[in-house]
Amino acid sequence: MTRLGVLLSGRGSNFLALHDAARRGELPAEIALVAGNVAGAPGLERARERGLPVAVLPHRGEHDRASHEAKLIGALRRAGVEWVCLAGYMRLLSPDFLAAFPCRVVNIHPSLLPAFPGLDAQAQALAHGVKITGCTVHLVDAGLDSGPIVLQRAVEVLDGDTPETLAARILEQEHLAYPEAMGRLLTRRWEIHGRRLIFLPAPAAPPPVAAAAPVS
Ligand code: GRF
Repeated sequence: MTRLGVLLSGRGSNFLALHDAARRGELPAEIALVAGNVAGAPGLERARERGLPVAVLPHRGEHDRASHEAKLIGALRRAGVEWVCLAGYMRLLSPDFLAAFPCRVVNIHPSLLPAFPGLDAQAQALAHGVKITGCTVHLVDAGLDSGPIVLQRAVEVLDGDTPETLAARILEQEHLAYPEAMGRLLTRRWEIHGRRLIFLPAPAAPPPVAAAAPVS
């Protein structure tokens, strides 16, 4: 079982989707730690209700980003975390943090990247007038929502949409996309080619071993 750490700052519905998928046996992973930078975040409360280990590491009051991230890395390492899933974590992570989990930090974003990175992606999509938007699961690099894409799901923009109605329909797709993307990353072989994350074909099964002739 791969040990996941989830970082969140708010509601935590994507964390719940990952945990539900793991509990159903659809994701070969266990959530080893849920960590957040906002003490009252509802997602942390949901994690406590589910009996999961929780770490509250507020960034306010910390001397600088490096000291906050050092505590975060320490908590994740002590919990044996192998992969870090960002689920509404409202802080950029430094190259030093990413180097602690190389190619093992994943994020979900509510648009079809590279369109509409950053905050309020759903409102950005509406304001731009696109007819299709969606969500993207991607590996995290040092840029803003810019790492290699793992999986995307599309959502139609309706004429009557508000940012809230559009966000709600995208969120439904996020809850499918994140566990599916993590499942692929954890169970399949993959490589990074330039900007592209490529899943490799499964190796051919070895030929069946001929039954040994009985020794007389
Ligand atoms: C989601 O829309 C996700 O795409 C974005 O932040 C939001 C988090 O929602 N990164 P939740 O806290 O998982 O409900």
